[in-house]
Amino acid sequence: MSKPYHHPISKENPYKLVFVCLGNICRSPTAEGIFIHKVKEAGLEDYFYIDSAGTAAYHVGESANSKSQATANKHGIHLPSKARKFEYADFEDFDLILAMDSENLSNIKELDRKNRFSDKIKMMREFDPSPGNGEVPDPYYGGLEGFENVFQVLNRSSEALLEELEPLIEKES
Ligand code: 4NP
Repeated sequence: MSKPYHHPISKENPYKLVFVCLGNICRSPTAEGIFIHKVKEAGLEDYFYIDSAGTAAYHVGESANSKSQATANKHGIHLPSKARKFEYADFEDFDLILAMDSENLSNIKELDRKNRFSDKIKMMREFDPSPGNGEVPDPYYGGLEGFENVFQVLNRSSEALLEELEPLIEKES
């Protein structure tokens, strides 16, 4: 596995992550909410900038899906997202772009025509200690159990991702 685009993290130079799925109403808002929660729990909110986006525009402006919200709330996590479309400027703005599945990955890479940003683009489940088939499955058309599975996958992956990034934080003495 190649390493994500790493840099020393400080309050002046926070680490910027964007989680990306198709609609930006189920998977990536859940990942965003979980990661925000973990960062706050660790007292590291000044060191990260966390966002999510979708490769499609169907749901722009919408809050997270009600089943995603109910599942996250059950675990004590709030999902603040309003859906937006992933755009070219995000390649410049973010340090790490995390695709939920291989379709998201190919849509993102298609936008990066000159292959300038490939070291910033990763699959979320590269960080999952139990990566399964490597995809965060789309729960949109299924029942609550699919949303719970997505939550568990994203919770494990976010935990491992934060553990990987934490040593890059340079705290002021
Ligand atoms: P997401 O799920 O990509 O995890 O937000 C979906 C949301 C909406 C649709 C597909 C997937 N849709 O086709 O509208």
